[in-house]
Amino acid sequence: TDYATILVERSGAVTLVTLNRPQALNALNSDVLADLSAAFGAYDKDDSQRCLVLTGAGEKAFAAGADIKQMADMPAADFFLQDFFVGWQTGVVATRKPWIAAVNGFALGGGCELAMMADFIIAADSAKFGQPEIKLGVAPGMGGSQRLTRAIGKAKAMEMCLTGRMMDAGEAERSGLVARVVPLDSLVEEALKTAATIASMPPMAAMVNKEMINMAFETTLAQGIVTERRLFQILVNTEDKAEGMAAFIEKRPGVWKGR
Ligand code: HXC
Repeated sequence: TDYATILVERSGAVTLVTLNRPQALNALNSDVLADLSAAFGAYDKDDSQRCLVLTGAGEKAFAAGADIKQMADMPAADFFLQDFFVGWQTGVVATRKPWIAAVNGFALGGGCELAMMADFIIAADSAKFGQPEIKLGVAPGMGGSQRLTRAIGKAKAMEMCLTGRMMDAGEAERSGLVARVVPLDSLVEEALKTAATIASMPPMAAMVNKEMINMAFETTLAQGIVTERRLFQILVNTEDKAEGMAAFIEKRPGVWKGR
């Protein structure tokens, strides 16, 4: 499928999606959201695809934010009436299979929020993260105030959102915002390698591990621990669990059915 604002490539069981509006620093407009929703939906449904990497075209930006030019003249009531930004939740966050954000440069505003929707972030050493919306008279609208605070804690999230300052890749790694920092020129290769490792795992187990960890973000410890036990109890009924344990005992690699 061809998209106007993103590139989608498949290699084995891994899908690579590239935000492709480098002339606008990959700013996120409604066309990008529609394309990403379609591509993530197709990925989620395609049994041959088991991990996805999202990155930005060009060396400068992952995404420099929601598209300011698109929103500047939009009537205020339309934001409410369209439930503006809800599509990120339904089109991208709802993805049940694992995906990684490979942040190659600026991840600002909605760009930082999009990266934080990923299961984890691998950052180039040149990456810069920020929530500068306050300078435009607004605030994060795609989950940033919630996800950034859960990721790096109140002090740093508050400082970043109130000052609009950027965080470099080293600070982002120390703060727990990103899983790993790699040189820019090997970013996509490293992210694809990590994705291939995830893609080699039993797919239902990957989905369940993702769901469990997201529960830690979204609920209390007691509820999360009950949910973890229930999900674990579902996994032990899978054919891949029987295969995984047999393969271990027989000292051979497992062959997964995805069920
Ligand atoms: C639309 C954008 C954009 C954005 C950059 N561009 N960011 N267009 N929306 N978020 C465009 C510029 O207008 C310019 O287009 C081109 O990309 C290159 O950007 P420059 O500014 O010329 O590059 P540079 O001087 O290197 O500065 C890079 C930058 C700066 C520091 C990243 O672009 C910047 O501050 N961008 C905005 C970051 C931001 O505020 N993000 C949060 C957005 S608000 P032309 O045509 O002039 O060449 C958000 C949610 C809130 O995400 C919603 C509010 C209602």
